[in-house]
Amino acid sequence: MTSLTFPKGFVWGAATSAYQIEGAWNEDGKGPSIWDVFSHKPGKVANNENGDVAVDHYHRYKEDVKLMADLGLKTYRFSIAWTRILPEGTGKVNQKGLGFYDRLVDELLKQGIEPYACLFHWDLPQTLQEKGGWPNRETAYAFAEYARLVSEHLTDRVKVIFTHNEPWVTAILGHFLGDHAPGFRDPVAGVKALHHLLLSHGLAVEAIRASAKGPVKIGITLNLNPMYPATSSKKDREAALRVDALTNRSVLDPLLKGTSPIEEFALVKMLSGSLIKAGDLEKIKNVDLLGVNYYSRSVLKHEAKFPLVAAKQTFPEGNEYSGMWEIYPQGMYEILMRIWKDYRPSCELMVTENGVPVPDGLDFDGRVRDERRIRYLQNHIAQVQRAIQDGVPVKGYFHWSLMDNFEWALGFGPRFGLVYVEPKTLKRTVKDSGRWFAKVIQDNGLTI
Ligand code: FCB
Repeated sequence: MTSLTFPKGFVWGAATSAYQIEGAWNEDGKGPSIWDVFSHKPGKVANNENGDVAVDHYHRYKEDVKLMADLGLKTYRFSIAWTRILPEGTGKVNQKGLGFYDRLVDELLKQGIEPYACLFHWDLPQTLQEKGGWPNRETAYAFAEYARLVSEHLTDRVKVIFTHNEPWVTAILGHFLGDHAPGFRDPVAGVKALHHLLLSHGLAVEAIRASAKGPVKIGITLNLNPMYPATSSKKDREAALRVDALTNRSVLDPLLKGTSPIEEFALVKMLSGSLIKAGDLEKIKNVDLLGVNYYSRSVLKHEAKFPLVAAKQTFPEGNEYSGMWEIYPQGMYEILMRIWKDYRPSCELMVTENGVPVPDGLDFDGRVRDERRIRYLQNHIAQVQRAIQDGVPVKGYFHWSLMDNFEWALGFGPRFGLVYVEPKTLKRTVKDSGRWFAKVIQDNGLTI
């Protein structure tokens, strides 16, 4: 048995996002987002499920904050639904929407939990989608207006704001692969969306700094995966490098180095330099806190037919898989080391998501014995600690997710929570993993 301890002041938390938990999709003046529209279309989400009610956090937020306090969470990372505050994306402000986040933030502070607010976790206002969405540069300016409004309203109490959660997912899964809202299958739209999302980060940073009521750290969270070639052939190695450029470097380079690899892609060259305008990259390279969301690695082989990257993911034998991904704990260490070695970021670094959907449920005695999740967390948190030992100044770790919720196109099937949510009654029960994580927080470390 080895004891692993974390540096003093290490930030332990859990994360959620608005569409996945809030429900109340059309209450109190909220406007429709692209996820409301997408999930209401038959065939887009498993079993045609949607987030209309989700886990009803909008009405049960007090109970949920109490659960967080019982788990001993020091911080809570949540997202704000843009359309609660600006139902049409820009213009008219919905005071009732602001009121909800006021109540949530106040309740968190009352319980001694620091709020980390994220402005965008994929739920673009439908009105902005109708004007072209993220492939349209104007959306970036609308985002900055929204960011300014939230900053003016919440920075008297909220000291950490993330602009985006996983811009790659919105851009590529939403616009190129079509699995997420708005459901396009157009690689060029995907690349345009990605640049505008990053640009909107830069514009939002300026807007937040100009309007904040007090000191505020501004971050962004990225989904990052180590990329492996399926074989040692030159073709597979190059395929892995292309996917790395589109997934990891396409976000890390602009944010941390002020350069962008996306115009290396043949398809993007067709845009003949019109996408990234003078001054954009300087604006984007502006981050106080980089959040890393790590779940798994990708193993790639050459596949000429696949647009943009000419690569295809393969699933190697021999490792354990969750309901969604290969379980690959050392990837956590590898990605943190790589960020440190390749970029030496001067900003803070945290793991803002990590977790696993393993089958679990209420046992005969009302307990949820999710041993596999505990093992997953042990192995991944140990890799964070190893990176810290090797010199990477990781400042925090957030579990995904606080509670079971709506997992996008996969509906309510995959359960990621530390808290079990009974599907019919929405009753909350802390899982064994929740109790285990509470002890990690209390000890500021773990034994493996
Ligand atoms: C991340 C998302 C989060 C959740 C987890 C499982 O990519 O940020 O909303 O879906 O994956």
